[in-house]
Amino acid sequence: MLVNELKAIFHKELDTIYGIDEVFSFFFMLTEAYCNMSRLDVALDTALSITKEEQDPLFKALEALKRNTPIQYILGETEFYGLPFAVNENTLIPRPETEELVQLIIDAHPKQSGTDKISILDIGTGSGCIAISLAKNIKDSAVCALDVSAKAIKKAKENAVLNAVNIDFVEVDILDESTWGLATRVSKFDIIVSNPPYVRHLEKQQMQANVLDNEPHLALFVEDNDPLVFYNAITKFAVTNLKPKGELYFEINEYLGQEMITLLETYGFSNIKLVQDMFGKDRMISGLNK
Ligand SMILES: C[S@@+](CC[C@H](N)C(=O)[O-])C[C@H]1O[C@@H](n2cnc3c(N)ncnc32)[C@H](O)[C@@H]1O
Repeated sequence: MLVNELKAIFHKELDTIYGIDEVFSFFFMLTEAYCNMSRLDVALDTALSITKEEQDPLFKALEALKRNTPIQYILGETEFYGLPFAVNENTLIPRPETEELVQLIIDAHPKQSGTDKISILDIGTGSGCIAISLAKNIKDSAVCALDVSAKAIKKAKENAVLNAVNIDFVEVDILDESTWGLATRVSKFDIIVSNPPYVRHLEKQQMQANVLDNEPHLALFVEDNDPLVFYNAITKFAVTNLKPKGELYFEINEYLGQEMITLLETYGFSNIKLVQDMFGKDRMISGLNK
């Protein structure tokens, strides 16, 4: 079959769902991943053809795209902070906003002076994207990461190997204080970071179907009447597990910036900074422990 014929089928079936440009992009990504074809060849070589074996995964991907499955789950991989990450239905697909959180932390630690390692804990690590990007980009860091999901930790461990970094992963339910001991260390952390679940059920109607139907709800949602449940638990944990003046960083719900400032103040954090994302929304907050 000619690649151009298959491309036409993709456009016929998917353009009304995703728009022409996105379908072009999907098709290039899939032919690159499954047929090892360059974008240039796919775009320009009208005589390019594919075998029956190569067609099968492409038609499967077409069906999955029709069901709104995110392209990242179909390919089983994505990119975050310029690094490759394997993802599946147990891990949230890392978001650009979270790259901004990582950037904020890296910018605050341009160069290490002295010999002490910076110890970092990532709470709710999912694919491991925050922990791994920090380990890769902050020299002399010792990074731990936790998640309640054993399946997410399995993927995060794969990603640490893929990116050649050493991370200490532990399975901990941050809402259950009796498991906190597994995440504590002899010496306390310099940095605790988290992008915990923060979407209220009442915000579901603003979400796209492909997120709602495919991404793990464990990673996304909190009860409408207790939207800061994770932030409360993590900040409490941080008070005793951060060094004095240790840094706490959160990605936050854009609608709850002021509530987050109050929360950090209540726990005695200082130098609190609410930071906007590239869309001008309150998306990150940081503070220093007592
Ligand atoms: C919003 S996702 C963030 C994933 C990843 N850090 C990222 O930024 O893409 C939240 C993560 O918190 C984890 N999580 C949910 N409940 C948890 C709990 N009680 N204790 C620890 N982790 C939890 C989920 O499994 C999920 O991986």
